[in-house]
Amino acid sequence: MKKLENKVAVITGANSGIGLATAKLYLQEGAKVVLSGRRQEALDQVANELEGDFISVKADVANAEDNKKLIQEAANKYGKIDILFLNAGVAPPTPTHEITEDHYDTVFNINVKGPILAVKEALPHINDEGTILFTNSVVTQRGFDGLGVYSATKGALRAYQRVLTAEVKPRKIRVNSIAPGPIATPIYDKMGLPQDVVDEMGKGFAQQVPLGRFGTPEEVAKSALFLASDDASYINGVELEVDGGLSQI
Ligand SMILES: NC(=O)c1ccc[n+]([C@@H]2O[C@H](COP(=O)([O-])OP(=O)(O)OC[C@H]3O[C@@H](n4cnc5c(N)ncnc54)[C@H](OP(=O)(O)O)[C@@H]3O)[C@@H](O)[C@H]2O)c1
Repeated sequence: MKKLENKVAVITGANSGIGLATAKLYLQEGAKVVLSGRRQEALDQVANELEGDFISVKADVANAEDNKKLIQEAANKYGKIDILFLNAGVAPPTPTHEITEDHYDTVFNINVKGPILAVKEALPHINDEGTILFTNSVVTQRGFDGLGVYSATKGALRAYQRVLTAEVKPRKIRVNSIAPGPIATPIYDKMGLPQDVVDEMGKGFAQQVPLGRFGTPEEVAKSALFLASDDASYINGVELEVDGGLSQI
């Protein structure tokens, strides 16, 4: 028996990295999946690779109207939603003395406003006993140079999730999150840093992880499957670290 048979899942940031690996796994496990991302060409490319029952919707999570459109298109196609995975995010580094208002607004709008507005739009369409998942980060437990605004966004998201867990209690909706450590995804290429700096940063991260390496998007996807499935039926309100132990030392 597949773990997500007949479940409807909406995934943001599904054209790349963790979101894409999760979309693939959910499809393999029988879910109907709405993949969302910002770049149409990446969504088209992914659509050619995937097998199963899915649609893709171009939506910028920082835009309120796009969040509305995403959930509306999901509801129009599949009816009720069982799994909402709010995973889209950006992590552009900027040391504190160089933070601008624009940097702050961009990162907060994508990483915090986006998921909060998506939840608001989706709640009327989520089945009772459904599940909402977020991608947080180990950066709320460990401080890394230059990631002040990014870390603050993930901390804000974590605080919001606790409130949401309480608010959806009457509907038995489970709210959980994943806090990845360093995961080998294209996010590092999108930081606007020279390749040698990215490589050095990567080596530094890997050395700090007790398991001594980056994780893979597929390893995170397996946790996203577990938390979304009935295997996690009594797990609610938690943040699961998928970080090779980085947050614990
Ligand atoms: N990789 C890591 O080491 C790591 C560690 C901890 C937490 N995380 C978190 O994991 C999540 C997924 O990141 P990833 O590592 O898989 O990176 P990724 O491969 O770059 O994926 C990020 C996804 O988010 C989407 N996205 C970004 N801004 C968006 C916007 N305004 N509207 C809609 N979609 C948007 C991207 O779409 P486009 O490509 O079309 O822009 C992409 O699909 C993020 O929340 C990130 O903070 C990652």
